Amino acid sequence: MAAGRRTVAARVAAFLAVASLALVTGAAGAAQAEETPLRDLADRHGLRMGVAVSSHLLDNARYADIAATQYNSVTHENSLKWESVQPQRGQFNWSGADRLVDFAQANGQDVYGHTLVWHSQLPSWVSNGGFSGPELEQVMEEHISTTVGRYRGDIDYWDVVNEAFNEDGSFRDSVFHRTLGEGYIATALEMAHEADPNARLFINDYNVEGINAKSDGLYRLASSLLAQGVPLHGVGLQSHLIVGQVPSSMQANIQRFADLGLEVVITEVDIRTSTPASQQALQQQANDYRTVFEACLAVDGCGGVTVWGVADPHSWIPDTFPGQGAALPYDDNYQPKPAYWAMHEALGGGQTDPGPDPDPDPDPEPGDGSCDVDYTVVNQWGQGAVVDVTVRNTGDAAVNGWRLTWTQPSGERITNAWNATVSQSGSSVTAEGVSWNGTLAPGASTSFGFQLTHTGQAGTPSGFSLNGAACG
Ligand code: G3I
Repeated sequence: MAAGRRTVAARVAAFLAVASLALVTGAAGAAQAEETPLRDLADRHGLRMGVAVSSHLLDNARYADIAATQYNSVTHENSLKWESVQPQRGQFNWSGADRLVDFAQANGQDVYGHTLVWHSQLPSWVSNGGFSGPELEQVMEEHISTTVGRYRGDIDYWDVVNEAFNEDGSFRDSVFHRTLGEGYIATALEMAHEADPNARLFINDYNVEGINAKSDGLYRLASSLLAQGVPLHGVGLQSHLIVGQVPSSMQANIQRFADLGLEVVITEVDIRTSTPASQQALQQQANDYRTVFEACLAVDGCGGVTVWGVADPHSWIPDTFPGQGAALPYDDNYQPKPAYWAMHEALGGGQTDPGPDPDPDPDPEPGDGSCDVDYTVVNQWGQGAVVDVTVRNTGDAAVNGWRLTWTQPSGERITNAWNATVSQSGSSVTAEGVSWNGTLAPGASTSFGFQLTHTGQAGTPSGFSLNGAACG
C-alpha cells in the first residue's frame, strides 16, 4: 500500500498555522456574506458544507477566496478522477489532486474524495482494455490502493463507486459490471477499506434524491451490502436539480437510508434554470436550496451538503444543457445570490438577502469616506501571502483615474501585483487603476491583487484613502 503524503499531526499543525490567516480582514465595508460564513454556521450543526473545486481555478483570487472562506469541505471537481490520476497504466499524476488537498489543509477543510470507480472519465486503456475478470480486479486494486493509500489520513471520505444505476434501478452497463458482475461494487469497497480502514466509504448517484425506481435500486444494494458486512458507510445523493423541481420525497428518502445506519450526503447540488435567469426563477431557486438544506438538517444521519461549483461562470451546466445555467449560489460576478442567502438562513444565519442597496451613502458626513475596501488575505505560507483587494466608490461622482493609498504593516513588502499598478515606499502603498478599470462609477467596485513577503504572519493594513479622501 502506498504511504500517505503526510501525517495527521502535520495536517492539524498546518490548519492551526493558517486558520487565523485565512480570515477575511475587511478593512471596511466587508459584505455581510463574509461576516458569518456558511462554514461557521454549518460547524454549529456539525455539518460538512462543501464545494466542488477545479484545482486550476485556484489561481483566480475571488474563486479561491469564496472556496476558502465559505466552505469547510472541498471536493475535486475533476482532478481526482481516474483519467486525471492514472491516464496510462501505472503512470500516476497527482498535481491537480495534491493542489486541492494542500489548499484544504491550509484552510482547515475536509476533503471528500471523488471518485474511484466510474464508467465516465475513465481512460480507454481501462474501458477498452479487454481485461479478464481477474485482470480487471487487479487494475481496480492498483488504482484504488494507490489513490486511497496516497491520501490516507488526508482524505477521510470517498465516493468509491459512482453512478452504478440505470433510471429503472437496474445496474448500469459498464466495463466493471460487464466483466465482474454487480460484485464489483463490494470488491471496490473492500479494496478502499483495505487501503484506509478509517475512511468513510460512499456510493454516489444522480436522480436518487427522491423515492423512485432508481433510489429503490440503491436502497436494495445498500441493504444487501450491509447485510453481507461490506464496508459501506454512506450514500451520496448528487442533487443536480431543476428550479421548482425538488422531489417532495427528498427528506423521506434521506431518512430511509439513515434508518439503515448509513450517512447520507448531498454531494453535488446545483439547481439550474433557463438563462438569463429571471428574478422570479432566482427566488424559486433560493426556495429550492432552502428545501434541500432543510431536508438534510431534519435528518440526524445527513452529514453534509456540497454545492457543485463555486460560481456560475465555471459550472458544467451550460456545456451540457445549452440555454440552462445560473445554478449555483454565486453569480457571474462572484456575488452571493438569493440562493446563497437561503442557505445562510437555513443554517440559522438569521440574515436575509440584503438585496441591492438603493442609496449606499444617503447622508455623508464630513470625514465620511468615499470608498469601501475589502482587504483579504487569500492564501499564505512561510513568509509569503496573496492578497485580494476590492475597492468600491461610495461617492456620488465617478472617480476617473482612481488611486488607493494605505499603510502596510511593518516588515511587509509587495512583490508583484495584478489588475492595478502598485508601488510601495516604506510602509506607504499606492495602487492605481489600469486602462480597463481606471474609472469607478458611483457604486462601482473593482478588484486587484498582489503577492507580498512578511515576517511570519500577514498583518492588517490601515488608513485607506481613495484619491485623497479617507474611506469610511
Ligand atoms: O481538461 C480538458 C481541456 O484540456 C480541454 O481543452 C477541454 C475541451 O472540452 O475539456 C477539458 O475537460 C473537461 C473537464 O470537465 C475539465 O474541465 C471535459 O471536456 C468535460 O467533459 C468535463 O466535465 C466534467 C464532467 O463531470 C465530466 O463528466 C465537469 O467539469 C464536472 O463538473 C462533471 O462532474 C460530474 C461528477 O463528476 C459526477 N456527477 C455528475 C457531475 C456533472 O456532470
